[in-house]
Amino acid sequence: MSEPLPITGRTRLVGVMGWPVSHSKSPAMQNAGLRAAGIDGVYVAMAVEPSRLGEAVQGLRALGFVGCNVTIPHKAAAMEFMDLLTPAARLAGAVNTIRVEADGSLTGHNTDCEGAVRAVESDGTTIRGRTVAILGAGGAARGAAAGCALAGAARVIVLNRTVAKAREIVDQLRAAGATLGNVACEAHELEDLGRRTTIDWSAVDVVMQMTSVGMNSMGPMPMDAGLLAPHCHIFESIYSPPETTFLARCRSMGLRSTEGLSMLLEQGIASFEFWFETKPDRKAMREALGKQD
Ligand code: ATR
Repeated sequence: MSEPLPITGRTRLVGVMGWPVSHSKSPAMQNAGLRAAGIDGVYVAMAVEPSRLGEAVQGLRALGFVGCNVTIPHKAAAMEFMDLLTPAARLAGAVNTIRVEADGSLTGHNTDCEGAVRAVESDGTTIRGRTVAILGAGGAARGAAAGCALAGAARVIVLNRTVAKAREIVDQLRAAGATLGNVACEAHELEDLGRRTTIDWSAVDVVMQMTSVGMNSMGPMPMDAGLLAPHCHIFESIYSPPETTFLARCRSMGLRSTEGLSMLLEQGIASFEFWFETKPDRKAMREALGKQD
């Protein structure tokens, strides 16, 4: 890893607010991007108690920050402190990136949406015109569904154990119809590993695995991978463990796949671009995450 750039009187400030935040991989990734771009800037992790989020966000403009990322558990709560929300943030119902504008106003954006889409696209499948199945209906799933709709997917199918939550996402996408063109949306219950459903799995081009099933443990799978067609591209959002049982099964079937660290990388690149209006060195940021090609 290259030496850090010296901190000067002009060093520009960016960072991430979370609670807890010490485990975050973003400081290593973003500082590598800043170094490679030769930007006199530093990215720091800030542990912000939920009850003090408003004060912390207001502090960004007082302290002259360029902007900041927002992570768990603050992504939804951060919305109310923004002066402007981008369509992605509105549709995702969450802010993960804040930019302090020249007049001091705060723009809330969501690069998780774009991150999920770019991760799949960087592995060779464009989202435009495709049928995408999203597994799960939590915050991550809502971001992915928003990202796919904004990227021009033809059809977004949201499947969740609690079907009411999948319906909420679909209702939100439908309500934003004018922004989204003609995306067709459906909600289904995810039961019996996807076997008991009216979905025609052979029509699904991309599956985005956005549930927490398989996190920190090898074992359970959210759906039966055997239902998927040979052309289907799998995106597994979990990156710990690096290979979930579901991802391993899909890979053993020869399906095209994308791992969770790719989304972390792509959302980070999109945030960097949002703040500095320049493309960062993808290789430097990827290496800082310890991610293979
Ligand atoms: P995040 O904000 O990261 O998306 P979350 O809001 O807790 O996290 O969402 C977790 C998702 O994983 C939900 O869709 C959840 O399904 P429910 O809405 O029915 O709770 C899904 N999930 C968690 N454990 C599951 C399990 N054992 N089987 C199926 N789905 C599960």
